[in-house]
Amino acid sequence: MSGSADGTRVHASLLINVRDVFPLARARLDDGAWAYFAGAAGDEVTLQDNEAAWQNLRLLPRIGRNVAGGHTRLSLFGRECAHPILLAPVAYLAWAHADGERATALAAATQGAGYVMSAQASTRLEDVAALVCDEPGRGPLWFQLLPMQDRAQMLAMASRAKASGFEALVLTLDAPLHGVRDRERAAAARRPAGIEAVNLAVPASPAPSSSHLDHAARHGLSWNDVAWLAERCGLPLLVKGVLHAHDALLAEAHGAAGVIVSNHGGRMLDTVQATADALPAVAGALDGRLPLIVDGGLRRGTDVLKALALGADAVMVGRPHAMALAAGGAPGVARWLRLLRDELEIGMALCGCATLDDLTQDLLTLPRPLR
Ligand code: FNR
Repeated sequence: MSGSADGTRVHASLLINVRDVFPLARARLDDGAWAYFAGAAGDEVTLQDNEAAWQNLRLLPRIGRNVAGGHTRLSLFGRECAHPILLAPVAYLAWAHADGERATALAAATQGAGYVMSAQASTRLEDVAALVCDEPGRGPLWFQLLPMQDRAQMLAMASRAKASGFEALVLTLDAPLHGVRDRERAAAARRPAGIEAVNLAVPASPAPSSSHLDHAARHGLSWNDVAWLAERCGLPLLVKGVLHAHDALLAEAHGAAGVIVSNHGGRMLDTVQATADALPAVAGALDGRLPLIVDGGLRRGTDVLKALALGADAVMVGRPHAMALAAGGAPGVARWLRLLRDELEIGMALCGCATLDDLTQDLLTLPRPLR
């Protein structure tokens, strides 16, 4: 694994706040890679809304509470986690840094964060699992599945992930084809040769321009397919890409073990609702029956705190971990994660909350439907 030798070491003094990873990454990535990792669909309205929606929620902290003995621990599908932060699946991490998924997974493990490996990772899933499975204190290790036309192939991928040590599967349902990626086209973003989705037998293909709907139909799944997979895959199956409360109920009814509120970081359909705005209704519908995770625009520890106050059990963060990787390899990701964890703990202490259970909706001033 490369460290300071390739000049990608981030000096601790450069990483003062969690957002510093963005300019540091920009300085290291070429225009195409930057467009791919930082960009989103269309006019990038949802990308901006995602971040703004967390920021615009105002906290109403409590004083005089004793937070002695407090902690950020939780349990997710039987694994004890030090804190509720997971790294969202992000494809082709070798494009951000030569150490790619290995570095990210290792950094996550050393910081007790969960790692959700993308189906379109540029590293073999067995290699990542072998690297981190025995790491003491690591967080959850999950694998993201892409819907596949050949259901047997999809099941084989699930079995391969399970056999390697992955503990849950994340089925992404909001990306049957690419969104309208103006920024990537403008930058003529092209993955360098050799950076491939090595775990897929058939490489992920862009939609043919003649029939986007046919492509979506071939690469989408129906709820019956979800139930079919949930019954057979042998691992908890989480559905990623839920925005509508009714879809959360459908996921539950079709065997999902967990729900991830996500709009793919605004990379698929632009102008969809920000995840902070979608979360309360989904939380209300599920009413704590299934683990609920949210991603999209979470940048600060206070954003994480607000997500949990709105009913999420845990959060996933996407772009920032890819930026931290680009900026500084494994040490960059580990430092960024440590900062984020510290911000969450400081925020909890200043809100008078000793544990995650204390993060409730009355910490927020905006009126939201109650769980
Ligand atoms: C993603 N995301 C994603 N999701 C997924 O299910 N499979 C994937 O392979 C990818 N790949 C991917 C690449 C890049 C460059 C980005 C930025 C995102 C979406 C990701 O898991 C997550 O939903 C969003 O990134 C969350 O938003 P933030 O945290 O990036 O704002």
